[in-house]
Amino acid sequence: MSASLAGRRVLVSAGPTYEDIDPVRFLGNRSSGRMGFALAAAAASLGAETVLVAGPVRLETPPGVRRIDVRSAADMHEAVLCGLPADFYIGAAAVADWTPRGVASHKLKKQPGVDTLTLVLVRTADILADVAAHPSRPRCVVGFAAETGDDADIARYARGKLERKRVDFICANRVGVAGSGFEAEDNALRVFWNGGERRFGPAPKTRLALHLLDFIAGRIA
Ligand code: PMT
Repeated sequence: MSASLAGRRVLVSAGPTYEDIDPVRFLGNRSSGRMGFALAAAAASLGAETVLVAGPVRLETPPGVRRIDVRSAADMHEAVLCGLPADFYIGAAAVADWTPRGVASHKLKKQPGVDTLTLVLVRTADILADVAAHPSRPRCVVGFAAETGDDADIARYARGKLERKRVDFICANRVGVAGSGFEAEDNALRVFWNGGERRFGPAPKTRLALHLLDFIAGRIA
């Protein structure tokens, strides 16, 4: 490992967001936070001042990391933008793309004879794109992409996100398969940037995180 991040500030997002429907129900996803926590641990171990904005997960805070717990996509958006300026932003969180238009103040009750429930969802703000467009844009903005499909689909979707969100790197991982992506201890990444691609893993998320940071820090040095 050659990179040192001493004197750098690294802001990482991790985990899912929970979008409340009523006082007892929410929309969530399967992110465990492992990938993002591994990245925060790796950044701190390379000497960076590290801030981790975490959705609802059951993980210990890595040593040397300042953690800010949030629940919803809107909370995460606010905490991440308040965390700027930073030298690096790494968006490993699985942020909800949609949230209920309003939160019911009472538990939604079943109605006799009614078999359906319609929820109106509205788009959430795109944290990654907003960080990339921010006046205090970090020197390096790294997004993740959770994708399904074949190799060509994954490359196309990831490159689309790279361009649309105007970020420096997109780390695509295949989800919906055992042993990588959500919840797993291991992962495999395809890292895309303007004009290049590199594959990492399969390997434990802790090791991948170190290799990824080393690679990215080296490329932007
Ligand atoms: O947490 P684990 O169980 O370890 O699983 C790791 C992971 C699969 C969650 C992680 O590796 C990963 O892929 N994270 C991104 C998941 C995702 O939401 O991908 P996406 O393709 O929907 O989003 C693309 C990028 O935009 C991501 O960097 C995401 O953080 C960001 N985004 C998305 C929506 C939104 N409203 N704001 C965002 O910032």
